[in-house]
Amino acid sequence: MGYENIRVETRGKVGLITLDRPSALNALNSALIDELNTALSGFETDERIGCTVITGSEKAFAAGADIKEMGSLDYMEAYLSDFITSWEQVSRTRKPVIAAVAGYALGGGCELAMMCDFIIAADTAKFGQPEITLGVMPGAGGTQRLTRFVGKSKAMDMCLTGRMMEAEEAERCGLVSRVVPADELLEEALKAAEKIADFSLPIAMMTKESVNRAYETTMSEGIRFERRVFHSMFATEDQKEGMSAFAEKRKPQFNNK
Ligand code: HXC
Repeated sequence: MGYENIRVETRGKVGLITLDRPSALNALNSALIDELNTALSGFETDERIGCTVITGSEKAFAAGADIKEMGSLDYMEAYLSDFITSWEQVSRTRKPVIAAVAGYALGGGCELAMMCDFIIAADTAKFGQPEITLGVMPGAGGTQRLTRFVGKSKAMDMCLTGRMMEAEEAERCGLVSRVVPADELLEEALKAAEKIADFSLPIAMMTKESVNRAYETTMSEGIRFERRVFHSMFATEDQKEGMSAFAEKRKPQFNNK
């Protein structure tokens, strides 16, 4: 498929999607989201791929939903088209996805980053939910995910004042997993993705599913879920390989079985 708003590459076992709509600071319009979903589906079904990185430009990961496209939407159009629901495909991917964020990650851009499994930020990253300045509120999970990531007080501050948060604050409050110098962002994100992709894919997928359960259920149900999945791992060849390789002091050769 010819993409106009993103670039799609593979680097070994890693899928790399670069948001590429520089004229609008990667504002997320429906064409970009359709392309992103197509690329993500392609990586989901590509057996060679074990992890995906989504990144943007030096100036912007994404400056939000496309305000110009969205501005004239009326209630019935929003309701009948279930506006935004199609954006959430990244949160439904089963393989791991890392967001590599430099510059602005605002509104829907911040929400897209939060739908990924974790965020690696450049020291230039700026996160924000400025929707209130436009007469709306976050609509792609921001009121829920941000609150779970950073807690009520900071989420309220971000959503009610619309202020931006720099990378350092984002790391301090748990929104991002690590901050790296801007010129090392892609390299660091790809390195993390390669590391994940070198492990057993089914084990990585089950691990992701289990961590995500922590956000969706009680502690006791989550622990029960974890225990069942953990037990099932002993049915895999990769568990035998991983543990044999440790005992034999060699590198494991996982084969995703
Ligand atoms: C459409 C956008 C845009 C956006 C920037 N642009 N953000 N177009 N939608 N979200 C366009 C500008 O109109 C401009 O186009 C070009 O990108 C460059 O932007 P500038 O504003 O000139 O750049 P700068 O002065 O550097 O300011 C950067 C900025 C500012 C601080 C990020 O662009 C900004 O405040 N953008 C809006 C951020 C925002 O409110 N995001 C939330 C959107 S609502 P022209 O043609 O003039 O050169 C949202 C809802 C989510 O995300 C809920 C559902 C998903």
